[in-house]
Amino acid sequence: MSQPIRAKNLSFSYSKDGKKIIDNINLQVNKGEILAVVGLSGSGKTTLCYCLSGIIPHLYNGELSGEVYINDQFIKEMNMPQIATKVGVVFQNPETQIFFPMVENELAFGPENLCIKREQIGKRIEEALSLLDMEDKRYDKTEHLSGGQKQLIALASVLTLKPEILIFDEVMAQIDQKGKQAIKDIIIQLKKEGKTVIMVEHNLDNIEIADRKLVLKNGGLKKFEGSLQ
Ligand SMILES: Nc1ncnc2c1ncn2[C@@H]1O[C@H](COP(=O)(O)OP(=O)(O)OP(=O)(O)O)[C@@H](O)[C@H]1O
Ligand SMILES: [Mg+2]
Repeated sequence: MSQPIRAKNLSFSYSKDGKKIIDNINLQVNKGEILAVVGLSGSGKTTLCYCLSGIIPHLYNGELSGEVYINDQFIKEMNMPQIATKVGVVFQNPETQIFFPMVENELAFGPENLCIKREQIGKRIEEALSLLDMEDKRYDKTEHLSGGQKQLIALASVLTLKPEILIFDEVMAQIDQKGKQAIKDIIIQLKKEGKTVIMVEHNLDNIEIADRKLVLKNGGLKKFEGSLQ
């Protein structure tokens, strides 16, 4: 079975003498798997997402050792546009992930930066919105969207880059029950399409859709057996 994303002996601290937030993690995620990573607040979940999506080391400095591979390619040797077509990340706060006044512009931004042809961009926007059942929002003002809808648009803007790996960093934390269910249904749909999903969660109610559950504790990953402590 192929493993689109792997970490080998991965360690990271934000400063030279700082605490290792990630301490010698080894991880393989199978194609089409939904992996949940849970952990207490401050346990390093977001930091792990940064490492698995190239934000560390490409956008953040710190002490990094070990390796992350995307389809057997060393993430350190890829640039951010290359990574963005393989790994999509959605974060907790929908407000900080929306930049444009209209939904269509928001969704076009990523593919435009990759110099994808105009007709192709239109098609990708259509496909992403259709998956999320939001076709009718294409020309809406982003400021008029609810928190849950903004989160779906943040996801749609990642999907227009067609990444095969998706990382969700507590994406359900700030949205209502209906929005949470919509996101869970979409994650299941993405799995059916063969995407590989890592969902980082604080709330254990959100992880029932996962195929495998790990807990991040003291910088390490272990099988989740019901307790975050
Ligand atoms: N930019 C930074 N510089 C220095 N330390 C940081 C930085 N970002 C996070 N940390 C520290 O790293 C540790 C892990 O933080 P991280 O945000 O990864 O945890 P988390 O599990 O995502 O927490 P939460 O559940 O609150 O989102 C914390 O002790 C935090 O203070
Ligand atoms: Mg976090």
